[in-house]
Amino acid sequence: MKKFKGLTFLAILMAFVLVVAGCNNGSGDSSVDVGIVLPTKDEPRWVQDEQRFKDALADSDYSTEILFSQGSSAKEKENVEALLNKGIKVLIITPHDGAAAASAVEAAKKEGVTVIAYDRLITDTDAVDYYVTFDSLAVGAAQAQYLVDNANGSDVPLYLYAGAASDNNAFLFFEGAWKVLQPKIADGTFKIANSSEAEALKDSADLSRDQLGKIIGQITTNWDANDAKNKAQTHLTAAKADLKGDVSILAPNDGTARSIADVFASDSAITKYFVTGQDAEKASIQYIIDEQQSMTVFKDVRTLVKDAMGMAVEVLDGNTPETTGSYDNGAVEVKAKQTNVIVVDKDNVKAELIDSKYYEASEFTGLE
Ligand code: BGC
Repeated sequence: MKKFKGLTFLAILMAFVLVVAGCNNGSGDSSVDVGIVLPTKDEPRWVQDEQRFKDALADSDYSTEILFSQGSSAKEKENVEALLNKGIKVLIITPHDGAAAASAVEAAKKEGVTVIAYDRLITDTDAVDYYVTFDSLAVGAAQAQYLVDNANGSDVPLYLYAGAASDNNAFLFFEGAWKVLQPKIADGTFKIANSSEAEALKDSADLSRDQLGKIIGQITTNWDANDAKNKAQTHLTAAKADLKGDVSILAPNDGTARSIADVFASDSAITKYFVTGQDAEKASIQYIIDEQQSMTVFKDVRTLVKDAMGMAVEVLDGNTPETTGSYDNGAVEVKAKQTNVIVVDKDNVKAELIDSKYYEASEFTGLE
């Protein structure tokens, strides 16, 4: 009897130790099903994604947590580790740097977590299961087509800008744009104003990753509005009269477009400029209404969020998510679901963004 009692006590003690050990596993609670890691709060684009995730998750059965990496791969890795300690089963992540994020997702994979790259691909690792994305080649092609459609005459000065070289999307955007621009450079519609690397490659319709890297390295904005502004100032200071007048500007996204536009608008030798963008940021919608930015490429973040969460739920329910294609990330073919984009300018801004209830009319002034 005594022995039995002793055993019972020991069993209770062991159970207690196990429970305590379980609780002390990392941060302590294992209550998060889906971890979401976004690159920075400093760009409206990603704050918009956060909001759309929150809206979509309001009545979800699964628990989620969203963390921001603030433009740092080290912070991103910490975020992933914190979420792993909370027992996530699925990680949805937009890498700050597509190659550097490999080690963070490899850590997740080791724990059996399903990894979904969100908007930006993670490169050179097999630790990515799925990719939800917009059609990024189409984004660049749409920007370029807009410039082509609005170019008058020949020898129109063409200013080229790109995103961050650490973002695979910057390559896709520029590749998509180049396919449309290159024939129009070759036929004399445009002359390149600000890139000796692009000039050296102007006869090549198809660029290799290395060639794209050379051009992007020269005209990168690092996705930073200040970098974009400084670059544009340097370019306009160096430009002779034949590179002024009516000009075309390939700007990779809205944040950089607005600062580049401001620089061009303040140069009295620039008589007219067409400038592209993407993301349909509210500030750029106002710029479009005010004719300070020519267009944006609207990427309906609600669809991307729905696709990413839909995939996560399929995984949590033990099913295989549906995909529509794949992307080569340098190591494996990552199964992907892709969403189309919409070109928005002053003519259709109301129909696409207000009538569709993406934004409220009251958020803007001067809407017709
Ligand atoms: C996204 C864009 C965004 C840019 C800068 C890209 O990867 O696709 O929507 O403007 O990053 O954050």
